[in-house]
Amino acid sequence: MRTIPALLLVAALLASPARAAFPDGFLWGTAISAFQTEMGGDPAHADANTDWWVWTHDPDNIAANRVSGDLPEDGPGFWDDFRLHIRRYARRGLASNAMRVSIEWSRIFPTSTRGVDASGGITLDVLEQLDALADRDAVRHYKRVLFRIRAANMVPFVTVNHFTLPLWIHHPVAARDALGAVAPDAPPPTDFGPAGWLDPATVEEFAKYAAYLAWKLGRHVDFWAPINEPLSIAAGGYANVPGAFAQNFPPGALSYTGLVQVVLNLMEAQRVAYDAIHAWDERDADGDGANARVGAVLNMIRFAPNTAGHPPDELGAQHGEYLYNQLFANAVFRGDVDADADGVIDPGEHRPELVGRADWLGLNYYFRAKALGLGAPVTPAIPLFDFLPIFTYRTPERPFGPICPTECSDFGWEIHPEGLRHVLGTAAAYGRPVYVTENGIADADDDQRPRFLVRHLAVLDQAIADGVADVRGYFHWSLMDNFEWATGYRTRFGLYRVGPGRTLLQTGSAALFRVVAHDNAIPQRFLDDFGS
Ligand code: BGC
Repeated sequence: MRTIPALLLVAALLASPARAAFPDGFLWGTAISAFQTEMGGDPAHADANTDWWVWTHDPDNIAANRVSGDLPEDGPGFWDDFRLHIRRYARRGLASNAMRVSIEWSRIFPTSTRGVDASGGITLDVLEQLDALADRDAVRHYKRVLFRIRAANMVPFVTVNHFTLPLWIHHPVAARDALGAVAPDAPPPTDFGPAGWLDPATVEEFAKYAAYLAWKLGRHVDFWAPINEPLSIAAGGYANVPGAFAQNFPPGALSYTGLVQVVLNLMEAQRVAYDAIHAWDERDADGDGANARVGAVLNMIRFAPNTAGHPPDELGAQHGEYLYNQLFANAVFRGDVDADADGVIDPGEHRPELVGRADWLGLNYYFRAKALGLGAPVTPAIPLFDFLPIFTYRTPERPFGPICPTECSDFGWEIHPEGLRHVLGTAAAYGRPVYVTENGIADADDDQRPRFLVRHLAVLDQAIADGVADVRGYFHWSLMDNFEWATGYRTRFGLYRVGPGRTLLQTGSAALFRVVAHDNAIPQRFLDDFGS
């Protein structure tokens, strides 16, 4: 008698897929940002009004190798080709049911909004004054983009600010020179002109911009993310140690005090944008009962000690994870603002008005970094910064970088899929739904990407099955090769290459992504071929 149920069980196991499918309704998509993809078509559609435009064209930056010399106006041309990119490549080519895009602040408001008085709060009257300043064509353009995404049956995720700032908010060269003239621990100067996120006044303008977008575009959008990767903005812009670690985002400075100030202002920016979007997105685009779901998109890095068991490295790795992965999230989910970055929330550091300022967490995960413990902080401004982070390894362009410990991408980033499970655990601790809003690899010949993709998706699948995190979607970075900030076009993250005449050419990884997105599961044959 006992053999029959046993046989039935074996038969059932053989019939069922080896691996659970992703949850019903799981979102599959790609992510792009405006500055990185929009230009490259009609030159009249280039936008010279951002800090990043000035930064990448600046002759001193090019001469000093702060930037590659590649130019954003040679990009893949999403501004002109968005219909095709959305329908043919994202929807049909990748079977996506979601797409993450950003809106360019400088295109909506090419000139200053400072003259619009919002000291009494953002009212309809304020929005109407902003409307008079907004570039109508740009607003219409973004409406069309969002309309097309939805018409292609994809859920739009909209980033309000993906790194670039209007020039009237930030002059990066003036900032670089002013910050370069003071010591890293000195108070950062702000009297050199528009100071970007160093200046608390930027937060007020950001609130106006976010409210305006919600008001104008809310009928097409439910999923909003005010700021892409606040820690990248802060560390990339203000923690540049030439030869050691330098991401060379504008203003390419080394100012620890500036870095802290920027992080604090970005927390405020998340708060005000959260409130503004909830107040002014008056339409429920997908009919699920919520007009807006406003997330926080954070880059999380898996830190490991440079030498396992070596106490300063172990401590450095813990501090790295705290500073990069938790400090910002602690503020905008829990109201715990560790302003002196010492790992302790002092009584004055709990800020009730910041509690719950994100409805979901967008996790961007790329690589594992190593921490080389120093045994003492590099600056009194950040007591837990007591390590040197190793983010990138040797590449042909960085022949003196440390040798890659395992397998690295064209960017010199170490590939480490298991780290995704770890940071998903960190993200889940905030108790909100998680979306993987970016994950991808610089791989010009697409020979590493298939394994990268399958291994990360397998880790994601298993983490969901094990209840590590409530993950609702996965966005691959990126749809097509695009302008990779300071490194330009060399580092290619796209599931599509950009061919002659700006046609998009499918990679093998795109075909693979399509199958997974279509099946909402990883076929066993992919796991067999690429899973280890
Ligand atoms: C950013 C993208 C960038 C990608 C690869 C992310 O940090 O959000 O803009 O292209 O990483 O570096």
